[in-house]
Amino acid sequence: MAEPTSEHDVIIVGSGAAGLTAAIALADHCRVLVLAKGNLTGGSTAWAQGGIAAVLDAGDTFENHIEDTMVAGAGLNRRETVEFVVENAPHAIERLIEMGVPFNKEAEALHLTREGGHSHRRIVHVDDATGWAVQAALLKTAEAHPNITLLPGQTCIDLITGRHEVRYSGSGRVWGVYALDEKTGKVHAHVGRATILASGGAGRVYQFSTAPRGATGDGIAMAWRAGARVSNMEMMQFHPTCLYNLEVKNFLITEAVRGEGGILKHPVTGHRYMPDYDPRAELAPRDVVARANDDQIKRSGLDYVYLDISDKDPDFVAGHFPNIHEKLLTLGIDMTKGPIPVVPAQHYTCGGVLIDLDGRTDLPGLYAAGECTESGLHGANRLASNSLLECFVFGEATAKHIIQSWDQLDTPPAIRPWDASRVTDSDEEVVIKQNWTEIRRFMWNYVGIVRTTKRLERAQHRINMLTHEVEDYYGHFRVTTDLIELRNLLQCADLIVRSALHRKESRGLHSTLDYPDLLPEAVDTVLVP
Ligand code: FAD
Ligand code: SIN
Repeated sequence: MAEPTSEHDVIIVGSGAAGLTAAIALADHCRVLVLAKGNLTGGSTAWAQGGIAAVLDAGDTFENHIEDTMVAGAGLNRRETVEFVVENAPHAIERLIEMGVPFNKEAEALHLTREGGHSHRRIVHVDDATGWAVQAALLKTAEAHPNITLLPGQTCIDLITGRHEVRYSGSGRVWGVYALDEKTGKVHAHVGRATILASGGAGRVYQFSTAPRGATGDGIAMAWRAGARVSNMEMMQFHPTCLYNLEVKNFLITEAVRGEGGILKHPVTGHRYMPDYDPRAELAPRDVVARANDDQIKRSGLDYVYLDISDKDPDFVAGHFPNIHEKLLTLGIDMTKGPIPVVPAQHYTCGGVLIDLDGRTDLPGLYAAGECTESGLHGANRLASNSLLECFVFGEATAKHIIQSWDQLDTPPAIRPWDASRVTDSDEEVVIKQNWTEIRRFMWNYVGIVRTTKRLERAQHRINMLTHEVEDYYGHFRVTTDLIELRNLLQCADLIVRSALHRKESRGLHSTLDYPDLLPEAVDTVLVP
């Protein structure tokens, strides 16, 4: 199974907003290889609905956007990062327009919509399917560049470090990744002078999530195993309004519906309950609205609550949310005439691999950008539409730092090929499905929107048992994408629970009945391998 090593200058894991932004910014300077699990549009980027936040209106200011981000993040954000991202946002939007993203306009100006936690209208969007337009424009630009090689169907397994050098150095220097070719089943070593993780979040660790199937935290788990610190993993964001439907389980109803006047109602009494929880009502930050929906559902034994925008002009609703409207019609729901049943679902991973403003991780040669990172932008709760923005700003910052440090980035040494000599094909694949389902269920029930120490300890106990079983399985059988993902999901579940047990307060997305108060000082939960 020894396959030849491929050589490029920079290896990027992920073809979403962060990975492709970095690739495009690097490509005039070096040869870039972009690896993606499954197809090139399989990440969260293509699914984004609401839009991208940026200060573009004369009545708005950077200070407003910074303040809104810090308020949503419950003070855990690093101000320096927030300023960096907010101030670079208009440039990021300009670049996207240059690449052909057809943002909606109104009287020649960009149309700005509104979402929870924003004090001003500042979200640029392409109808209600912004992510698809962004993904398409980035892919088109990347495909046209001769220095970018896009390689889908590659599931990265682990980072290559000094431990994998033929002349073993044991150092933490990262040289690339071992990746499983999903078609051939062979494992290749892809090496370069720098490696960028842009592998997205870990949402699929929960039973109900708006994230796509491949959001299994692979990059976070790989970086952790290689020795990088991860931070704030307990800050898992739940979106308040995922469609409740027995067949379609993860369809998001964008926050912009509330931004444009949608209200939340008790489905039996019709009571508009959000003002009872927060004076900002439906436009309170996401953690507040998700907790309120969860509370209503649990208190009244409901299956869902209602999101209702049907008192607005039907042409406005259908015109503003064409994709959602069309999708709901196929399910027998007309949002121009009546309410939409919704539930909270996991949506975004605020924590991740710890990076600095240049996208550098703890490990020499390893950079990271986008949802797999903890950059300091989101703190204890991400402000709506700040995530794609983070991908563009850090994708570029990372590329810039690599270009500036080119002379200090050595060429890779000889690397040992992947050793599959001691494993066989599994005759027990059922173990993977069983454990995958079990993890997602106990994470939902024990490590969800409202937590207790006892529930977290129960989850920890199960993780410990499963870790033993999965590592034993991993050590004996040939790797498959399902097995790689299961191992990573379990690793991320462990990081989330350990971080949650560590935080002895309720802040932002981490809400625990045992420590309901906010401690005076906001401190990151940093786990050290
Ligand atoms: P992704 O776009 O998730 O891409 C990850 C990439 O890594 C993929 O190419 C994947 O194949 C690859 N990958 C993962 N693991 C491996 C592996 N082991 N080997 C090889 N490749 C791998 N944010 C906003 O700002 N505005 C919005 O309106 C918005 N709406 C959203 C709606 C939905 C339904 C969801 C789920 C999220 C939304 N978000 C939104 C969040 C935002 O879309 C994501 O945070 C962002 O797109 C993440 O981009 P990324 O480049 O970091 O990762
Ligand atoms: C949404 O459209 O509600 C999602 C926006 C986001 O996740 O930032």
